[in-house]
Formats: sequence, C-alpha cells, structure tokens
Amino acid sequence: MSAAPRVDLCREATPAAVCADFARRFVDALLDCQTAGRVASVALTGGSVAEDAYRAVLDVPQHRRVDWAAIDVWWGDERFLAASDPDRNAVQARRALLDHLPFAPERVHEMPASDGERGVDLDAAAAAYGATMRALGSGGFDVVLLGMGPDGHVASLFPGYPQLDVDDEIAVGVRNSPKPPPDRISLTFAALERAREVWFLVTGEAKAEAVKRALTPGMDFRAVPAARPRGRERTVWLLDEAAASLV
Ligand code: 6PG
Repeated sequence: MSAAPRVDLCREATPAAVCADFARRFVDALLDCQTAGRVASVALTGGSVAEDAYRAVLDVPQHRRVDWAAIDVWWGDERFLAASDPDRNAVQARRALLDHLPFAPERVHEMPASDGERGVDLDAAAAAYGATMRALGSGGFDVVLLGMGPDGHVASLFPGYPQLDVDDEIAVGVRNSPKPPPDRISLTFAALERAREVWFLVTGEAKAEAVKRALTPGMDFRAVPAARPRGRERTVWLLDEAAASLV
C-alpha cells in the first residue's frame, strides 16, 4: 500500500523569499532527476510570481551543476497571442530564465501561438499541443508549477468553465477567460495530474481566501480549481505569510 501523497505548506515572510525558496527547490529537483539518470520533465506556468521565481533560479549557485540541455520544458497554459507577444507565458519564461541557460531548443515545447492573419484555430492549436506531448512527452512530469488567481484558477482552468470537466484531452482551448487575454490554451486536470509533484507558487493577501478554500477537504474543484491538482507523490504550496494568513 503506497503512502498517501504528501501535502507540504512552505511559508516564507515575503514574495522574494518565496521565489528564492522555489529556485533552490527547483534546482534540487532537477539535480535529483539527473542524479537518477533521468531527463527531467517540467511544466511551467505564467503570471507575475512565476516570472520573479524563474529569475531567482539564476541566483542559486547550484544551478551551474544542472545539465539544462537534459530537461523537457512544457507549459501548463499559454495566452493565445502572437509568438513574440511579451504577454506570452513562454516569452516571459525565456526572458527570465530560458534564454540565460543552455536549454536544448528541441526540448522546449511552447504552446502554439495565434497568427492573427491566418486565424489559427484555438481548438486545433490545443489539440496539436496534446499530440506533441503524446509524441514527445515522457508520459508525465516531475514537477508541474502552478500559480493561482484570487478566484482559485490554476493554469487557464477557471471556476465554472466547461474545461474543468474535460478529462479525455491533454490540452484544451479556453475562450472568454476572465483573466485577459480572453483566448488561452490550458492543460486539463488529467494532464496536470500526471505529475510526481505539483508546486503552487502563491503570494499576496488577495489570494489568502482562495488558498484556504483550495486546502479545504472536499472543496468542489469546479468552484475552486486549485482544490484539484495534486502530485502523485507530493504537493507543495510555496506561500508568503500574506497568502498563508488564513491557513
Ligand atoms: C497566466 C497563468 C495563471 C497565473 C495565475 C497567477 O497565464 O496568467 O498561467 O494561471 O499563474 O493567474 O498569476 P499571478 O502570479 O500574476 O497572480
């Protein structure tokens, strides 16, 4: 009988300390995979906290020991914008981390971008990303990183949206997102949960109620999407005191 997956709440005084804690953990997790002789597979997220967290990785001395070319990089969601749009999660991650380290281009799997002129179809783009993951993925992730909105959304899975109940696809298109931009691609819960570890990166008073609700046993994930994704081995909440103030 395998042990129940762990849920760890890791509190830091400030958002900067949360980002530094993330960075140390992230480097350690990658080194653990590589010590075990495995290509690490990670799913990144977007948002302001994530960008600061990515930048902090470069300040971790041990990051120089990581074989960055032996890491598969995926995204949990993406804003459906032109590939070079600064609001793209991939553009943000490249600006903060990927462009500063020797990742292997063929192992960095951005979600499709919209191409305004030809009107790339959002649903087809989501399906294409699922096909890419089936073809090139390892069948799961070592770490899925998730931010969380004040409404409890994770990736681009928003409260009450139909995508919350799609469990037979890897990725889905999302229209009329309550968080701009309106059109997005998101991994489904089924894909996000193929993770050894899920890490939530959440700071600020505005998210304290959503953190409390997400950690409430039996909470309906359709009301609070963050209540659902859990790692098969471990779930880690990386929180500052403000976001953790109600738990
Ligand atoms: C996005 C993200 C989204 C984000 C949360 C938290 O595309 O915006 O994927 O899920 O992680 O909204 O964003 P903040 O960290 O900026 O609050």
